[in-house]
Amino acid sequence: MTPVSATSVSTDITATPEWTALTEHHAAVEPRHLRALFADDPHRAEALTFAGADLVADFSKHRITGETLELLTALARRAGVPERTEAMFRGEHINTSEDRAVLHTALRLPRAADLVVDGQDVVADVHAVLDRMSAFADRVRSGEWTGHTGQRIRTVVNIGIGGSDLGPVMAYEALRDYARRDLECRFVSNIDPTDLSETVSDLDPATTLFLVSSKTFTTQETLTNARNARAWLLDNLGAGDEAIAKHFAAVSTNAEKVAEFGISTDNMFGFWDWVGGRYSVDSAIGLSLMCAVGPDNFRAFLAGMHAMDVHFRETPLERNLPAVAGLLNVWYSNFFGTDTHAVLPYSQYLHRLPAYLQQLTMESNGKSVRGDGTPVTTTTGEIFWGEPGTNGQHAFYQLLHQGTRLVPADFIGFGEPNHELPGDGPDPAAPDMHDLFMANLFAQTAALAFGKTAEEIAEEGTPADVIPHKVMPGNRPTTTILAPKLTPSVLGQLIAFYEHVTFVEGTIWGIDSFDQWGVELGKVMAKQFGPALYAADPPDAGLDQSTASLIARYRAYRGR
Ligand code: F6P
Repeated sequence: MTPVSATSVSTDITATPEWTALTEHHAAVEPRHLRALFADDPHRAEALTFAGADLVADFSKHRITGETLELLTALARRAGVPERTEAMFRGEHINTSEDRAVLHTALRLPRAADLVVDGQDVVADVHAVLDRMSAFADRVRSGEWTGHTGQRIRTVVNIGIGGSDLGPVMAYEALRDYARRDLECRFVSNIDPTDLSETVSDLDPATTLFLVSSKTFTTQETLTNARNARAWLLDNLGAGDEAIAKHFAAVSTNAEKVAEFGISTDNMFGFWDWVGGRYSVDSAIGLSLMCAVGPDNFRAFLAGMHAMDVHFRETPLERNLPAVAGLLNVWYSNFFGTDTHAVLPYSQYLHRLPAYLQQLTMESNGKSVRGDGTPVTTTTGEIFWGEPGTNGQHAFYQLLHQGTRLVPADFIGFGEPNHELPGDGPDPAAPDMHDLFMANLFAQTAALAFGKTAEEIAEEGTPADVIPHKVMPGNRPTTTILAPKLTPSVLGQLIAFYEHVTFVEGTIWGIDSFDQWGVELGKVMAKQFGPALYAADPPDAGLDQSTASLIARYRAYRGR
């Protein structure tokens, strides 16, 4: 078998014998019900449950057999997953369309590790920035860092969008239990003026610190919000530009633009072009999170990511958590024809995880051409969505259980709760609230897998005309991911797990999961359209009929 090139993929994976074998295998597996698969093998759950770092993933409720995994891992080998994984970790330029290394894994290497890429000691660079971030976060947390009027900082406002927002806000929400309660973080991302206005409306500028986070420092949303935040601060403090150094810091790869904005590079924390926006929560982009949870917890978060990196790099594909999960996503997308993938964390703290994963997976794998520019020959990308359980149960699970669409889902749960509250009353033998919560997770995955037949429903005395409505078809695939407790390390493991899942899928499809050219056109057009909305005498912007009439209506609303 010839694996494809490690950096650029040009093989049409659908034309390989491994793909053909999976197509034939799918025809045999598709009609089988999970009830039968479990009945046939009393050791199925054990055989299809794998561990990596602190995570345990039960893949047994998937529509697979042992042979499916063998065929999928053969496909991964044909696609060059092991070689490309090594190329990524070594710092080869696997982001071919931007000619860049993809080294988010280097952001969590321990200090003693060794990695030189393009002549640069990457580990030393990473830890130098981490040390500066730690010193800064400690000063903010201890109150040593004071604002212009000498008061300590009570609110850190991160201004950023996409990867410069979603990672920090998701992780901050996830780790609230580890954060100082007297130092709040808020996040402004949208160019909708409502976002900044509402965020600062009850803040005291004297105790507010803005972190302007933008890899490029050219993003319209972020710079517009940052300029307005600066005006709000100076107006409300009644101060001049000398106050900026006490209330603004920047996180960016672009020192020149940061200085141009008026933030001293002494207050700037850098990272590198080999960190993609959606892979940057563990870079200086995580500074707001570090201010909230402290440097030690932030380093534990990085150590968790590193533990998952080691698992991914060193574990055979057959029991490698991200590899198996990524291959199953390919199995459903390409062989069962599913479009969407639900992520259902049984943790209120993880309520922003689905939004974070939307950027991670969809900006990475929503591509139509392979690495060499030729069109893909199968569907790519999955539409990720979800809500924390049990809220989702009372909203959209009906469709998961009885709808006509097949939606593979990840259920994520924890052993220890972050909060202990009684459940069914004062009896110490009764389940506590977390037991009730987790019972829902286990019940949902079992109901999705095994359903309830017409015979079983009839036995309960259900009237015949109602029976069809109550039949639960089952055979709905889920992965259950469990961890002992939601800690900084476990959160890091989960994020790295999904990063590598995304990488495995992208490698099978032969696409560049690390560029995002598809977001550019809209940005350029929004800038071009601006004058048509506000200019007294709008230039001919060559607008199409529909857009021209919508903008005319908008101008009328604004009295223009
Ligand atoms: O949406 C496109 C994008 O480039 C994302 O990839 C990125 O995370 C986001 O914009 C923000 O970019 P920046 O950090 O450069 O402001």
